[in-house]
Amino acid sequence: MKNKSLVSISDYSKEQYLEILNLAAEFEKNPVQDILKGYVVATLFFEPSTRTRLSFESAVNKLGGRIIGFSDAGTSSVQKGESLKDTILTVANYSDLIVMRHPIEGSARFASEISPVPIINAGDGANQHPTQCLLDLYSIRKTQGTLENLNIALVGDLKYGRTVHSLLVAMSEFNPTFNFISPVELRMPEAYKIILDRKGIKYYEHTNLEDALLYADIVYMTRVQKERFSDPIEYEKVKNAYILRNSMLANTKENMRVLHPLPRVNEIAIDVDSNPKAYYFEQALNGVYTRQAIICKILGVK
Ligand code: CP
Repeated sequence: MKNKSLVSISDYSKEQYLEILNLAAEFEKNPVQDILKGYVVATLFFEPSTRTRLSFESAVNKLGGRIIGFSDAGTSSVQKGESLKDTILTVANYSDLIVMRHPIEGSARFASEISPVPIINAGDGANQHPTQCLLDLYSIRKTQGTLENLNIALVGDLKYGRTVHSLLVAMSEFNPTFNFISPVELRMPEAYKIILDRKGIKYYEHTNLEDALLYADIVYMTRVQKERFSDPIEYEKVKNAYILRNSMLANTKENMRVLHPLPRVNEIAIDVDSNPKAYYFEQALNGVYTRQAIICKILGVK
């Protein structure tokens, strides 16, 4: 059972990404089915969430399964000092699958190694967010018609943003050109650039957002991750580094789409929302179909 967990996007191959995307497309056509009847999925969120938790819960509910769990570890026995190991071993008694978000990098891997039921990593610190990555791939393919040879601009907090880390790894299977736009303090970590170097993937680093917009097929905006900063003054320095405004989209490619894993703070101005190139709320909807596909693949449900 343990090897069925999804902890990092690297746990899946390119073929498995495509298998999930094709299955998600089937769920988009027919999202309400009774195929998870009798299954219980636990959602354990040790960090706040709106989209990830609720789209998982929506996905399970639409397929006839049941959900247990907590959205605030402060209401669980973690508050009394219970360890992650004991929490996982206990919840595994009550569920067929555990979806877990936790602030500590590596926590999901640890959980997958001790759990008798599969673990889905719903975000572990600044490390990985593989299900967000799969819904991002789904959104990119749906809007571009392909995942191959695209120009992808990753904007904002590239140091702490786990969604961009997962997306970089997955998209590197499809020969993209990356433009990284971030403040110097929030550059893409070297470990991820080494992955690209080894695969011969082109990437360019910028501090000016407008330079990269003209060539982009996808502009992937991210929030500066306030909760990862130990020094609030450092956060204040970079929090408004990039604000995408509607006027900046005027000369962009026709097929270009703006993605954002959300929540946004103010890195996308409200006037972008009504531009047909804004795709972030549809992207969040795609999370339901993609997570239906991931759950069914992991549980072996046809
Ligand atoms: N994209 C994402 O992870 O959003 P939430 O933090 O609301 O789950």
